[in-house]
Amino acid sequence: MSGQLQGLSLPAWSRAGSGRISLPFDFSPEKLVYGGEALGYYQGRPVLVPRALPGERLEVEPVRVAKGVVHARPLRILEPAPQRVVPPCPYFGRCGGCQLQHLSSAHQASWKKEILRETLRRIGKIPWEGEVELHAGPPWNYRNQARLKVARQADGRVVVGFFEADSHRLCPVDACLILSPRLNAIIKDLRREEWSVPLSGCLEIELLANDGDERVMLTMRGKMEGQNGETLARMCLARLPGVSSVAIERGQAHQVFGEPALIYQVGEFRYRISPGSFFQASRFLLPEFVARVTERQSGDMALDLFAGVGLFTLPLGQRFTQVIAVEGNSKSASDLTASAQAHALENIRIAREPVFDFLRRLAQTDAGLAVLDPPRAGVDVGTLKILIRLRPRRIHYVSCSPPTLARDLRYLTERGYRLDSIELFDFFPQTYHIECLARLSRSDLPNSS
Ligand SMILES: C[S@@+](CC[C@H](N)C(=O)[O-])C[C@H]1O[C@@H](n2cnc3c(N)ncnc32)[C@H](O)[C@@H]1O
Repeated sequence: MSGQLQGLSLPAWSRAGSGRISLPFDFSPEKLVYGGEALGYYQGRPVLVPRALPGERLEVEPVRVAKGVVHARPLRILEPAPQRVVPPCPYFGRCGGCQLQHLSSAHQASWKKEILRETLRRIGKIPWEGEVELHAGPPWNYRNQARLKVARQADGRVVVGFFEADSHRLCPVDACLILSPRLNAIIKDLRREEWSVPLSGCLEIELLANDGDERVMLTMRGKMEGQNGETLARMCLARLPGVSSVAIERGQAHQVFGEPALIYQVGEFRYRISPGSFFQASRFLLPEFVARVTERQSGDMALDLFAGVGLFTLPLGQRFTQVIAVEGNSKSASDLTASAQAHALENIRIAREPVFDFLRRLAQTDAGLAVLDPPRAGVDVGTLKILIRLRPRRIHYVSCSPPTLARDLRYLTERGYRLDSIELFDFFPQTYHIECLARLSRSDLPNSS
C-alpha cells in the first residue's frame, strides 16, 4: 500500500511513523488492551482501534500515528465477533465515558482479568498463575457519582453532558445508563429551560448520591460570584429532588448550603463525606470490597495508608487494638475523624499528612497489616522503601491502575514480600477501568492465606 501513496501529499499523522499507512484497510484485532481498544497488526505495525473486538474482521481508517502505533477508527464491521452486542446507549462512541458497551458484560470481565495478568507479567515481571477472583455486580446504574459538564448552545440554552473521548468538546446527554436512577433524574431536570439563567456561570457539577440513592450532594465549579452562587444553590435545594447539600467551590474552599456533608452507609458503618473528600464511585460492590480488604485480619496494629474518609479504617478499628490512618487531604481527614468519633472508635489515630512524611518519622512498627490504596499514580519508590523497612507482616494493596500496581508489586516482591492473592472488583462495567486488591505477606513468614 505504501508504494501506491508515493508522491501524494499525506497528512502529518501518516508521515510520523517509519512506513506510510493512510487508506482504509482490513483489520483483525488480536486482543483488548488497557484503555479498551483492540490491538492488532497491519504491515508489521501495531494498530489500536476503539469499539473493535478480537475475533472479528473490520474495515478501519487510520487517524494518526503516535510512537510508532497506528490509531485507527472502525468504518465497517465485516465479520462480527460472537461476543459483540448492540450498545444500548445512543451516545456510545461519542461520549468519552464508556469504551466497552459493544462487548457483553461477562466477556468484559474476562478480558479485564486477562489484561491484569498480562500487565503483571509485562510490567511487574510476575507470572501470576493463580486465580484472579472476580467480584461483579449489576452492569448498569452502578455509579453513585458523576462530573457533569455544563455549556451553552448558540441559542443560549444550557446543556449538560460529558466530554467526548480525548477532547474538551461536550457531548450533551439526556441520561447516562451507568449512573444511578437518582442522578439521572437530576440530569433530566437540569435540562429544563428554567436552569439556563441560574446555571450561566457554572462549568461543572459534581454529583454524589448516598448508598440508598435518596440524598445527593452537588459541588459546583465555575464563575458563580457571591449572590449568584447562593441563588443557584438555594434553587437546587428547593427544586432538585433528593438534593440535600450544595457546595459552591471557591478556590480550595467550599461555601456549603443545606446539609454540611453526605452520610454514606457501607455495612454497619456510616461515613461522613464533605465536598472535596474522596469516595468510591461504584455503589453495588462496596460492602463486599470493604470486607475483602479488612476481613480475617486482627492484631495489635494496622496502618491504613491513603485512608480517604476511612472506608477501611473504621472496620479495621473494630478488629485491631490500634489503627493509624494516614490521609493528606484535610477535608477527608476531618470526615474520618468525625466518623471515628461517631462510632466511638477511640483506638483510631489519624495522621493528616503525606504518607511519606508520616512513615519517615516512624522509627519502627509492629504492624500486622498495612493497607495501601493510593491514587492512580501508585506509591512512590521512596515511600515503598520506608514501608519495607518497617516490615508490616501483610500488605493489602488496593489499586485502580494495573500498570502502577504491577510496578509497585515488582518492587515489593523483589524485596521480601510474596504475592498471595489477587482479586478483581468490576466496579466500572462498560468502561476499561479495573479495580483490584493484591494481598501480600512477608516471605519469611509461613503462607497462611
Ligand atoms: C484512591 S483514594 C482511597 C481512599 C480510601 N482508601 C477509600 O477507599 O475511600 C486515595 C486517597 O489518598 C489521598 N492521598 C493522595 N496522595 C496522598 C499522599 N501522598 N499522602 C497521603 N494521602 C494521599 C487522597 O486524598 C485520597 O483520599
